Amino acid sequence: MTGEAMICQENAIHYCSWGFVVSGLLYLLRQLTAHTPYGRYVDTKSPGVMVPARAGWFIQELPSFLVPVLLFLTTESLPGIGRHLLLWTFCLHYFQRTFVFSLLTKGRPSPLYIVLSAVIFCSVNGFLQGHYMLHCTQYHTEWHRDTRFITGVLMFFSGMAINIHSDYILRNLRKPGELSYKIPTGGMFELVSGANFFGEIIEWCGYAVASWSFPAFSFALFTICSIGPRAYHHHRCPPPPKLFQNIVIYDDDIYKLSAGSSKMSSNLELLIILLFINIIHSEPKKVLIKSLSIYTYWCT
Ligand SMILES: NC(=O)c1ccc[n+]([C@@H]2O[C@H](COP(=O)([O-])OP(=O)(O)OC[C@H]3O[C@@H](n4cnc5c(N)ncnc54)[C@H](OP(=O)(O)O)[C@@H]3O)[C@@H](O)[C@H]2O)c1
Repeated sequence: MTGEAMICQENAIHYCSWGFVVSGLLYLLRQLTAHTPYGRYVDTKSPGVMVPARAGWFIQELPSFLVPVLLFLTTESLPGIGRHLLLWTFCLHYFQRTFVFSLLTKGRPSPLYIVLSAVIFCSVNGFLQGHYMLHCTQYHTEWHRDTRFITGVLMFFSGMAINIHSDYILRNLRKPGELSYKIPTGGMFELVSGANFFGEIIEWCGYAVASWSFPAFSFALFTICSIGPRAYHHHRCPPPPKLFQNIVIYDDDIYKLSAGSSKMSSNLELLIILLFINIIHSEPKKVLIKSLSIYTYWCT
């Protein structure tokens, strides 16, 4: 592809990659005490603007696809099959995430500031990976036959298959319009509770091995720090047993009292107390809290 020659912005690549390493580690530390507030951990009481799930995912993931594609179309890239194969594997992931996952998701709305943060991250990452691959890295002409390349690409596609299949399983747990949580089964969920996150981590570790570059390793590390703890939080806070899935609480204050009790040691205890409140409460119409907000309280 011919276009404007683009000089490698070595300093930008270096600082962005270190930025991902440092911010990834800080994000990991942050998640030791807090959950990232989207999906099941969204704060239903915060007054902020919410973006519908499909629009949110589409807008936030698009830059990771668009920026490398535009760089490819408008600038002159260095020669080599290896670099182009790698660029297209990166873009393939984000094509799937932007044009398939986003448009099929049945998730709940996300806070606007989460979507905007993701737009910034995906734009920077799209530039970092695309620019580095097209204009900076020097691979030998047989890189696409190198063991690192082959191993990494195999990891990438295995991870991608696990991620897509696991997201498919999660999506099919719900009927249209439904927002409740159920226990996922089948596929990799038989072995790992956060199978979709596991697949994504394998994918980006594979990409890092195949491209053998600091920018790709820094993104893989950021991914581990970002969704690793989320997978752990989901594991610690699984969907309620079927019997309790449709519990509705009628009194906000009583509920909060129960949730804040120091005697509360497990989700099951909380559920039993909630059920008890539900049975004995004399004015069930007082305050209605959806079962999804119960979930938010439990898990935070
Ligand atoms: N590379 C990265 O740094 C990065 C960062 C974030 C996400 N991702 C990827 O983006 C995808 C989505 O991430 P996520 O954090 O939204 O994943 P998630 O919390 O597992 O949710 C995925 C979808 O499944 C629904 N869901 C989850 N558990 C469910 C259950 N037990 N029953 C019914 N529905 C359930 C969620 O609905 P709700 O919205 O209602 O909870 C959401 O629509 C994943 O593939 C992840 O790997 C990548």
